[in-house]
Amino acid sequence: MTTRQSPAIHVRGLEKSYKALRVLRGVDFDVQRGSIFALLGSNGAGKTTVVKILSTLLKADAGTASVNGFDVATQAADVRESISLTGQFAAVDEILTGRENLVLVARLRHLKNPRIIADELLDRFSLTEAATRKVSTYSGGMRRRLDIAMSLIGNPPVIFLDEPTTGLDPQARIEVWQAVKKLADQGTTVLLTTQYLDEAEQLADRIAILHEGRIIVNGTLTELKQLLPPAKVEYVEKQPTLEDVFFAIVGAPGKDAAANDRTVGADK
Ligand SMILES: Nc1ncnc2c1ncn2[C@@H]1O[C@H](COP(=O)(O)OP(=O)(O)OP(=O)(O)O)[C@@H](O)[C@H]1O
Ligand SMILES: [Mg+2]
Repeated sequence: MTTRQSPAIHVRGLEKSYKALRVLRGVDFDVQRGSIFALLGSNGAGKTTVVKILSTLLKADAGTASVNGFDVATQAADVRESISLTGQFAAVDEILTGRENLVLVARLRHLKNPRIIADELLDRFSLTEAATRKVSTYSGGMRRRLDIAMSLIGNPPVIFLDEPTTGLDPQARIEVWQAVKKLADQGTTVLLTTQYLDEAEQLADRIAILHEGRIIVNGTLTELKQLLPPAKVEYVEKQPTLEDVFFAIVGAPGKDAAANDRTVGADK
């Protein structure tokens, strides 16, 4: 291709206040197609506000934003057709089975072959075995994966995940990460918000930090790390992190546990 593709998400000078509270004070960023972009920020930084504006649920006070080439203010219907939004709390129906949830959404979207669509998504998110069980029996990670699967019905080119792994255990988080990575590999653009630095580190092609109403840093992980002075070489006895210990004992997803049968404190 000779021309550069326009970004999937383009945001300039976005402002939003709730009464006297100036939450967004001029937010700028772009997200390239097929990439994963992480919006980091502490509680109340305005991450959900950005996602709501981009998904047309909320109007900005000033600035412009486009998604998939459509202006969020003047072409809201086109934007909605281009996106899906997965909020912080799973929007699945507990009484239905996983497959029924997916078929229901495919029907609501007037798609042909809802059962085939459901089965493909169940397979893609490793939920085939649990497909006929009620969602009330699913683990948190399974619900989250089902929730993301539901948001993919109709193949939207852009997806917003607002804190996709909050409240999940380390293993379930990694399962969700794998699902999100697969999406981007297949060309979907993903904007996710998170408070977890390691989540951004694991997943994102670019990371932006929203702080006091503005994006104060935006770059790849390597670029962000270069903002700090070069690493000093020090000799220290490395203590495993709690995460290292957790995975050594329960086994990382997709890998055999190195020490499944080891009792903490026992001699080898
Ligand atoms: N409808 C509203 N009315 C008034 N204030 C609001 C409203 N929605 C959000 N706020 C305030 O705006 C600020 C930003 O909220 P937002 O939900 O965007 O933050 P966030 O970065 O998503 O935080 P969290 O990490 O806790 O989800 C907060 O101080 C919040 O209390
Ligand atoms: Mg939020």
